[in-house]
Amino acid sequence: MADNKIKAVILAAGKGTRMKSSKPKVLQDIFSKTLLERVIDSVLKVKNLEEIFIIVGYKADEVTKYIKDKYKNISCPITGVLQEPQLGTGDAVFKAYDYLKGFKGSVIVMCGDTPLLTSKTLSGFIENHERSISDISVLSAIIKPPGSYGRIIKNKSGSINKIVEAKDADKQEKLINEVNTGVYCLNWQQISPVFFDLTTNNEQGEYYLTDIVEWGVKKKLKVNTHILEDADEAFGINSRADLAKATYILNQRKLQQLMSDGVTIISPENTSISPETQIGADSIVYPGCYIDGINTIGKNCILGPNLHIEGNVTVQDNVKLIQSKISDVTIGKNSSVGPFSHLRGGVEVTNDVRIGNFVEVKKSLINENTNVAHLSYIGDSELGKNVNIGAGTITANYNPLTKQKNKTILEDDVKIGSNSVLVAPVRVSSKANVAAGSVITKNVPESALAIARGRQSILEDWVTKKKN
Ligand code: UD1
Ligand code: CA
Repeated sequence: MADNKIKAVILAAGKGTRMKSSKPKVLQDIFSKTLLERVIDSVLKVKNLEEIFIIVGYKADEVTKYIKDKYKNISCPITGVLQEPQLGTGDAVFKAYDYLKGFKGSVIVMCGDTPLLTSKTLSGFIENHERSISDISVLSAIIKPPGSYGRIIKNKSGSINKIVEAKDADKQEKLINEVNTGVYCLNWQQISPVFFDLTTNNEQGEYYLTDIVEWGVKKKLKVNTHILEDADEAFGINSRADLAKATYILNQRKLQQLMSDGVTIISPENTSISPETQIGADSIVYPGCYIDGINTIGKNCILGPNLHIEGNVTVQDNVKLIQSKISDVTIGKNSSVGPFSHLRGGVEVTNDVRIGNFVEVKKSLINENTNVAHLSYIGDSELGKNVNIGAGTITANYNPLTKQKNKTILEDDVKIGSNSVLVAPVRVSSKANVAAGSVITKNVPESALAIARGRQSILEDWVTKKKN
């Protein structure tokens, strides 16, 4: 059984009415990654997975397009299967029936709205299913109070008899704390006939997938439950409050992991870090950091206080990022950014660079030992090594007539005086200087000084004469 083939069915046809959103529920985000993406990514790590079917219904086109765009470069095929109308979870899985005809292996079924389930848990669950040679395995969890989850009904010897939905449960059944997480592993050859026997004979008038358990027990098949170690993983999202709680849980998981890996987090209650962010040991995260998206941050870095990282940020060791907003950036070692800097849109900062107070940098390369320390805008530019940018320097990169962005190139050892405007396209060659307050519209040759401002004149005794 060790090399049993696996296919997955993810249920994602529901609207998610309680979200009060124009978006389908499974496309809501937690740390800039949709619920559906979190579920798919976790399944994709399962060994021997051959194919994924996603049951779509509400805004099916939008969900299908999303999956196609997001997963166009992976080898595992992902197929959207339409369920219209939505007649319940049993009907949803039945929609994949034709696609699974003749499949000899295990089908794992899960919901698109349970984003906290880890691939480790899923793999353990499947292993257990295979080792015990089960026909139906149900992933259950102990949840107090058990709320609206389906209740696991067991007999005296402890084996499962059936699942009863909260709405259908009697008083005794309602008290049961072992509940259905909505994740199943099915021996498809044995189980697939069940879909012709399901009825809508229940409180909600739906085809319940949960009814496969009672069917299997009656047919004397091997039906097992596997209890989740960490019940949080079963958490299903139905409302905005649930979304906040799931974000909280993921954040706590991340902060715990970082701290045990040697990162100091001064105030965990005032720090948010996405699961997709890595931070090296001996880095210190000060309060007020919101770190979203996919990022890799080195060792010995100082982050915050107050830092917004929006994703796609790679930072080497010994870097300071203080009171700033950063996305799509790579930063070399020993550099510092902030306070109050904004780096975005493809910025490459190399080693030993200083970007300081109220500086915005967009789509630019900044080489070693260069300083942009105060009140500047650097856009579509290339700055060489050992360049010094005086306070208030602006690269005028945008031509409103042609609507084009133009490049500013400052070669090695260039010094730009304060309050200068570099009107792009323009190049200042190596070692050249630009005098403070200049508006530079023409290229500056190597080692030259460019001055482009009105000469200062002195009117002697002007004030006294005016008064008289
Ligand atoms: C379901 C289970 C319940 C379990 C809970 C775990 C049933 C009958 N009940 O209840 O035992 O404790 O999940 O979270 O299965 N969906 C479709 N098509 C449909 C109906 C639903 O694709 O026709 C999808 C939804 O989009 C959702 C998932 O199936 O992703 C679960 O549906 P939902 O209505 O949330 O079921 P629960 O009431 O939570
Ligand atoms: Ca649900």
